[in-house]
Amino acid sequence: MSDGLFDLSGQVALVSGASRGLGQHFGRALAKAGADLIVTSRKVDDLTAFVAEIEALGRKAIPLELDVRDQGSIERMAAAAEAAVGQVHILVNNAGCNVRKPALDVTWDDWNLVLDTNLRGSFFVAQQMARRMVKHGYGRIINIGSVTSVFGYSGLAPYGASRGGVRQLTMSLADDWGKYGITVNCLAPGWFKTEQNKVLYESKEWVEYLVDRIPLKRPGQAHDLDGAVVFLASEASRYVTGQTLLVDGGISTGAMRATVQAPANADKEK
Ligand SMILES: NC(=O)c1ccc[n+]([C@@H]2O[C@H](COP(=O)([O-])OP(=O)(O)OC[C@H]3O[C@@H](n4cnc5c(N)ncnc54)[C@H](OP(=O)(O)O)[C@@H]3O)[C@@H](O)[C@H]2O)c1
Repeated sequence: MSDGLFDLSGQVALVSGASRGLGQHFGRALAKAGADLIVTSRKVDDLTAFVAEIEALGRKAIPLELDVRDQGSIERMAAAAEAAVGQVHILVNNAGCNVRKPALDVTWDDWNLVLDTNLRGSFFVAQQMARRMVKHGYGRIINIGSVTSVFGYSGLAPYGASRGGVRQLTMSLADDWGKYGITVNCLAPGWFKTEQNKVLYESKEWVEYLVDRIPLKRPGQAHDLDGAVVFLASEASRYVTGQTLLVDGGISTGAMRATVQAPANADKEK
């Protein structure tokens, strides 16, 4: 039934922001499905260990420098990727950052950092890669969104605006580029512990609060994203475009209880 549907052999996937965190998990999952990789970081030396890991899987991994806040860097990276491999089949637009603050304290520079990185950066990386995908009549673009693409969270105003923008951008680009054989989807993770948010997980109360709101009763583990990224990168999703796939343990259901929970010993008190 699934013959070849999830097989990425012979394809090249470019993963931005692959020096750590979810970017490495996306890259690893795609490599295990057969893809060779191009991986990026602002500091190319930070990719050395991950490149070795991917090569040990029997796949190629080419490290390139990329700062998504720098137009020239995006153009140089796209040209270098094309020179190195010819065709890039899959783009995972993963590079991103966050500033976590009450909205009343957000500065002009905070806003620009988050929006320039997550939204403007995602668009111009996608544009550079899509211009080349058009020539081949094929492409899979996976923009990384977030549960904040669809939900409001206090303390995450610029981040939520950027991720809501990524979801909207995904729909617009899907409509624009479908005629060229390019699908554009948004993979939206829920809460996964990485460098970006590890400080939150130091609070036992916060973790309990979070888990209480997740129907599957645990935060995400990076491998929970493997199936979704391979699906969106592969032939299996050939008729799926413009969509946001939330991989979040169900937190985007709203996760509010409509009934009051009885205390555990309620029966004994009668
Ligand atoms: N962790 C979660 O729960 C979660 C949930 C939903 C969405 N996300 C999103 O998923 C992505 C990965 O998250 P993560 O938790 O793995 O974050 P992370 O550990 O902070 O990693 C972020 C990556 O983005 C790269 N990056 C940051 N600014 C960049 C810039 N200006 N130009 C190029 N690359 C840049 C970093 O690379 P260098 O520093 O090496 O350049 C790094 O590899 C982010 O976009 C994040 O917002 C995360």
